[in-house]
Amino acid sequence: MTVLVTGGAGFIGSNFVYYMLEEHPDDKVVCVDALTYAGNLATLSGAMRNPRFTFYKTNITDRESVFEIFATEKPDIVINFAAESHVDRSIEDPEIFLKTNILGTQVLMDACRKYGVRRFHQVSTDEVYGDLPLDRPDLFFTEETPIHTSSPYSSSKAAADLLVFAYYRTYGLPVTVSRCSNNYGPYHFPEKLIPLMIVNALADKHLPVYGKGENVRDWLYVEDHCKAIDLIIRKGRVGEVYNVGGHNEMRNIDIVKLICRELGKPESLITYVTDRKGHDLRYAIDPTKIHNELGWFPETKFENGIKKTIQWYLDNQDWWQEIISGEYQKYYEKMYENR
Ligand code: NAD
Ligand code: TYD
Repeated sequence: MTVLVTGGAGFIGSNFVYYMLEEHPDDKVVCVDALTYAGNLATLSGAMRNPRFTFYKTNITDRESVFEIFATEKPDIVINFAAESHVDRSIEDPEIFLKTNILGTQVLMDACRKYGVRRFHQVSTDEVYGDLPLDRPDLFFTEETPIHTSSPYSSSKAAADLLVFAYYRTYGLPVTVSRCSNNYGPYHFPEKLIPLMIVNALADKHLPVYGKGENVRDWLYVEDHCKAIDLIIRKGRVGEVYNVGGHNEMRNIDIVKLICRELGKPESLITYVTDRKGHDLRYAIDPTKIHNELGWFPETKFENGIKKTIQWYLDNQDWWQEIISGEYQKYYEKMYENR
């Protein structure tokens, strides 16, 4: 079968492309990616050599081009990873988030309706549920938790989710949605917490922790997310949401200290900076549904996953040096200077 993946030159999408090529030798993978600042063709160089892989540099909001790709490739399954994904950028400039994350999703679903697909899978996020209080460790996000967003990013993802269910109910489009917690692993763009701290620590630069560093995220190794999506597209029930997360809650400050320890860097590099506006306190997923229905469970423990990730950044300095040498410098100055 042919699986069309959008956003495959980004962090999770690229990991998914490699996962699919490896795990399903009979499937073809078609990638559609606009190569925004977050997309990197170098990330896909291994896939480019595979005859079962095809790449289109196309924006998912470009209806004509997207329809042409569907007409040519006739995908059986479409998985939408493409998105503007960084909360801090959404606070600075929300508009592109609404265009890509909502209108782009609409264009893809219109193409699915016109050409017919077995499944449209939307890669959503646990951030659509808003946040949980720090002093209630008994509370978790389930699929029934009301949508209650905080940032322009999470609002755009929630709006897309609502549209996905509108297409299911109104047009009968066979959809599924996954809402995963924070991912970490190879090819993670160094604007996000874990790779930013690794890259800065290696250069003996300040490690900017927002607020007091007490906010909690629920971390999942990216390959476990890929496995979950693969299960959902093959065995998941149409019209359903599946939460994905591995009960691995960590305070930001503890992650940063752990990275310092692993790299042999002093904690004196840590600098507490002005908090993010509207900063979500805690995310925590209840993965009971995907575990009971599809047998999914996280296979990589955080202690191992973080070591593997740090080693990957040590072994692949060319990949991130290339990224941080360009536009990224301007972004970094704008976001962190005088913070
Ligand atoms: P990313 O920012 O690393 O990659 C996004 C990719 O989408 C890039 O390759 C970019 O070029 C592409 N893209 C952006 N706008 C596009 C457009 N208009 N048309 C075509 N391609 C476009 O993001 P990520 O962290 O890999 O996240 C992938 C998906 O997973 C997103 O939908 C995100 O909301 C969701 N998600 C991410 C996390 C996480 O921890 N990173 C957790 C849960 C859900
Ligand atoms: P991030 O990786 O941006 O993911 P998200 O906001 O989508 O969860 O941030 C993870 C946590 O780390 C979040 O609480 C904000 C915090 N953070 C910092 O303290 N310093 C930083 O430089 C960054 C990028 C994030």
